[in-house]
Amino acid sequence: MATEPPLAFLQSRVLRILLAISLLVLQTVALAQAQAVSLEEATAHDLQLAFGQNKLTSRQLTKFYLNRIRRLNPLLRGVIEVNPDALCQADRADRERKVKPYGSLSALHGIPILLKDNIATKDKMNTTAGSFALLGSVVPRDAGVVARLRRAGAVLLGKASLSEWAHYRFSSDHSGWCARSGQGKNPYNLSATTCGSSSGSAISMAANMGAVSLGTETDGSILCPSSFNSLVGIKPTLGLTSRGGVVPITPRQDTVGPMCRTVADAVNVLDVIVGFDPYDAKATREASKYIPRGGYKQFLKADGLKGKRLGIVKAFFDFYSGTPVTKAFESHFNTLRKQGAVLVDHLELANMNEIYSYSSESVAISAEFKLALNTYLQDLVVSPVRSLADVIAFNNKHKHVEKIDEYGQDLFIAAQATNGIDKTVKSAWQNMTRLNRDGFEKLMRQNKLDALVTPENIVSTVLAIGGFPGINVPAGYDEDGVPFGICFGGLRGSEPTLIEIAYGFEQATKIRRPPTFLR
Ligand SMILES: *[C@@H]1O[C@H](CO)[C@@H](O)[C@H](O)[C@H]1NC(C)=O
Ligand SMILES: *[C@@H]1O[C@H](CO)[C@@H](O)[C@H](O)[C@H]1NC(C)=O
Ligand SMILES: *[C@@H]1O[C@H](CO)[C@@H](O)[C@H](O)[C@H]1NC(C)=O
Repeated sequence: MATEPPLAFLQSRVLRILLAISLLVLQTVALAQAQAVSLEEATAHDLQLAFGQNKLTSRQLTKFYLNRIRRLNPLLRGVIEVNPDALCQADRADRERKVKPYGSLSALHGIPILLKDNIATKDKMNTTAGSFALLGSVVPRDAGVVARLRRAGAVLLGKASLSEWAHYRFSSDHSGWCARSGQGKNPYNLSATTCGSSSGSAISMAANMGAVSLGTETDGSILCPSSFNSLVGIKPTLGLTSRGGVVPITPRQDTVGPMCRTVADAVNVLDVIVGFDPYDAKATREASKYIPRGGYKQFLKADGLKGKRLGIVKAFFDFYSGTPVTKAFESHFNTLRKQGAVLVDHLELANMNEIYSYSSESVAISAEFKLALNTYLQDLVVSPVRSLADVIAFNNKHKHVEKIDEYGQDLFIAAQATNGIDKTVKSAWQNMTRLNRDGFEKLMRQNKLDALVTPENIVSTVLAIGGFPGINVPAGYDEDGVPFGICFGGLRGSEPTLIEIAYGFEQATKIRRPPTFLR
């Protein structure tokens, strides 16, 4: 009896302490979970709010992504290099936030961004388009879009992997593979394609290994991986974003654009990267007339679909008949109507067979690539290779690491055999001008369309040869768990309208969900 009270006291104390400890543990776990949950899938807007309320620092956020890259990248291979200066840049953003008036900073200030590895950074990171041929090369300056990101205070987190040379070395598939980081994996189904060539940007965004990212597109390279990884990808009007300092395929078609988890994130990135660049003067000057006063954010309207005329070309859907895409799109058409859009059905795109024979496009690109790549390589401060011929020779010397016997370099060899802008290339240019005029431009104008609606990235060639913009938004998942997207394409400079449409659709459907990393 005598011992009872102390024992009871002791017990209750032990219990209380245990309880306290477990509560503390529980609380810590809950906190960690709350943080993990809120940082995963967090938008730039969410993150800025958390910065502003002193709930999060840019350093903590950068560490979160660096940890995720450490943990997930050995499997997914979406990142080639992380920036050794990323935490320094985050600290600088944290210091600046304390002294600058609230609301005076860019939407990307302190936000970690991943860059496709064909976008030059003049820092400790390499810019190699995924190839060992460019490892150790020194670029003359930041790419135009990177200079803008730095000025906005974004944290350059690292370089994303890609289909090597933006998939212009070989014509065989092998999307998502580059020599420097191996085969990238689709986080939604590790056996499925990532698509490309901006595969690493897509993988990393899907798996939350960064807040936002940049990809590049010549024909499908933003739209396709965005579709396959449940992302929003904006392929801007040609010249709206500078190609200065981007390893080229062809200045006639190359664009740089955002790949993100939401329309709002992609638009925040677009607002920062658009504009004139003396290193891509002609195209950026011409396209700068399209940039709206006050930027693109004003077009994030929840009722953005109201009154929009959306065209449907049946031939683009015939390709998908009997697949989950068909079913999903039937329901999406209803949603679009319910949100106030007018669907203009049963349209035909003239010369579709000619466009999709790729004859003019491929002839032109082959010649343009050789000229553009040689110029890029000659402008480097230091480089192991100075011409396409050097790169081909490098590959032959390093057959094993570059998988030359398996994957080949047929597009390189064909390009090397071209002789500048000759009669055939000029005829190809004329053909593409005709295809744009009689095809997409006529279809859009005659039917007074705001956008053409198509599944996945099937429309990318139509947009590519005309320098037209397109936005991919998540639209569903197939029976293997692989995502697919819906694309809204429009005439040059129609980003404001496309953003209203894309945002309206996204807000009405909210289809994106994070991946499960299953085979
Ligand atoms: C860039 O490549 C060099 C090898 O040439 C390597 O030592 C360096 O670590 C790379 N930079 C980064 C940030 O990984
Ligand atoms: C351009 O189109 C014409 C047909 O109108 C065709 O004969 C010619 O081969 C095309 N040029 C190229 C480079 O594909
Ligand atoms: C992934 O795709 C393969 C087909 O490529 C399929 O057999 C498998 O069931 C899919 N996995 C999941 C988790 O859906």
